[in-house]
Order: sequence, then C-alpha cells, then structure tokens
Amino acid sequence: MKVLVTGGNSQFAQALRESNRSGNIDVEYLNREELDITDFEAWNACLKKFNPSVVINAAAYTNVEKAEDEEQLALAVNADGAAFGALACERLGCKYIQLSTDYVFDGKEPIPRTENDLTNPLSSYGRSKLKGEEKIGEVNSDAVIIRVSWLYSPFGKNFYKTMVKLFQKGDEVKVVNDQIASPTNAVELSLRLLQAIENGRVKKMSGLYHYAEKGEVSWFDFARGILDRLPVTCKLTAVDSSVFPTKAERPAYSKLNAERFFEAAGVTEIDWEHSLDECMKIELK
Ligand SMILES: NC(=O)c1ccc[n+]([C@@H]2O[C@H](COP(=O)([O-])OP(=O)(O)OC[C@H]3O[C@@H](n4cnc5c(N)ncnc54)[C@H](OP(=O)(O)O)[C@@H]3O)[C@@H](O)[C@H]2O)c1
Repeated sequence: MKVLVTGGNSQFAQALRESNRSGNIDVEYLNREELDITDFEAWNACLKKFNPSVVINAAAYTNVEKAEDEEQLALAVNADGAAFGALACERLGCKYIQLSTDYVFDGKEPIPRTENDLTNPLSSYGRSKLKGEEKIGEVNSDAVIIRVSWLYSPFGKNFYKTMVKLFQKGDEVKVVNDQIASPTNAVELSLRLLQAIENGRVKKMSGLYHYAEKGEVSWFDFARGILDRLPVTCKLTAVDSSVFPTKAERPAYSKLNAERFFEAAGVTEIDWEHSLDECMKIELK
C-alpha cells in the first residue's frame, strides 16, 4: 500500500517520517516544487505517477498572522488546493485525508467541540481552512477531514520548539493563560494515522473527525509542562492575551472532542503529558 504525503517539508510530514522510521509503510513525500497543490493538473500527474491508495494533504497556508493580509492566497491554497486534491483522488478512487484546524471555531463556549458543533472562524486562516472543508465535501464524499489543535513536535516551526529554545537561554518567558485547548504531538498523530491506515479502518472512514490528546491546558500550562521536563531554571509568567496583541483573533477555548475519531480509527488515545514525554525523547531538528 502506498501513501502519498503533500507538503513534504511540513512539520507534519517530518513527524510522519519519524513515526514511519521502520519503513513499514511505503510513503512518498512531495514538497511544493514536486506538487504545488493549487495546480489541478499537477495533482492528476502525481496521482497517475505514484498511484497511491491514500493521500494525506499536509500542504497548507499556515501563517495565521500573515493570512489576515493575504486571505486570497490562504484561500487559494487551503480551499482551492485542498479541493483539487480531493477531486483528483475521487476520480482515481484513492482515499483523501485533509488536516484541518480548531481555528474554525470561535471558542466562546468552554465545552469540548464536537464535529456537529457550529463553526464560526475568527481569522482569515480559520475561514480558509473551513472553506477547504466545505469544498472537499462538495467534490469527494469519501474524503476524511481531521481537525487538530496546536500541532507541535521537534520539527518545523512550533510553540514547543520556541519554548525549549527560550528556556535554554534562561530569559524570563511570558505566556498567555487565557487560550485553552490541547496540544497535539504531530509524531503521535502521524503514528495513529499510519496505524489506522494499516488496520484498514481509514478505508471505512469518511467525513469530519476531531483528533485530540486527553486533557486540556492553556498555552501557559503547556509551557510549564515543557519547562518542568527540562534541566534548566527560568522565570515563567502567565499573562493575558492582551499583553501580546495579534492581528488574527484566536479562539479562547477550542478543545476538540475526539470520541468519533478514536472509535472509527481503532487506535488508542494518549494524554498530553505522556505525549510531551514522548516528544522530548526526540532531538530538536
Ligand atoms: N501548526 C499548527 O498548530 C496546526 C494546528 C491545526 C492544524 N494544522 C494543520 O495541519 C497541517 C500541517 O501543518 P504543519 O504545521 O505541519 O504545516 P507547516 O509546517 O507550516 O507546513 C506547511 C507546508 O505546506 C507547504 N505549502 C504551502 N503552500 C503550498 C502549495 N501551494 N503547494 C504545496 N505545498 C505548499 C509549505 O511549503 P514550503 O515549505 O515550501 O513553504 C510547507 O511545507 C495543515 O493543514 C495545518 O493547517 C496545523
């Protein structure tokens, strides 16, 4: 069975390489030069060339702040590009998996969000990802869309890596404590996705799923968890979001209820602290 991963240099793709180090599954990674997802003909050509059983689209416009000024570009990649992939896969009869985000919610209600809850993105990025979900649904009813929150790992650019580096410098670090969700270790996520592909469950899945680790924390709690696991001392202070004004508004509460995913995928949940322990065993890249 062949799996094709777009956005070959993304944090997620690097995490998937780590979780598939044994090489159990045959995975082809395509970076932007090899497959620009906004090019429908390029999708068709790549699918024809590699003939995958499953495609995971990890390519996305992910700069949440910049997207406020570049909404059209974010839409071209996150909505049109994603839908091109879903359509090309539908025609070939291969499974299309799209990663999406908790930022499709406004976060006003402090109850874990289910797949049936109303969306109301607060940012251009969130709107572009939601548009992608909608367009995928229009062209490929067999596609799987998996929303995740706060992706981190030893790879790419993410909060976890930023914190480790700041703590190692020993400066005072201020982190917001009024945004709550659950961090998602991209290595643990990709491991579970590969398991669900191998156990045959992915084939039977379709539609929207939420993936999350057990527990919920603020960014500050997550930073505290990271600091507590490092052999360094550093002053860590909790602050309100107003201390770090941003162009893009983020949801205050976006913990995802992942029951549907775990039931369908036949894989085990991990709690965020255990997941962080696992992440810290891997060297930062
Ligand atoms: N990071 C998070 O906290 C988070 C949270 C929730 C959901 N997600 C979702 O999870 C997925 C993976 O996120 P990530 O953090 O791994 O992303 P990432 O590290 O920012 O990587 C995104 C990748 O997409 C590529 N890309 C952008 N435009 C492209 C195009 N037109 N054609 C082909 N490739 C293109 C980029 O290529 P270049 O390297 O050439 O720029 C980059 O490698 C995304 O769908 C994201 O929306 C992320």
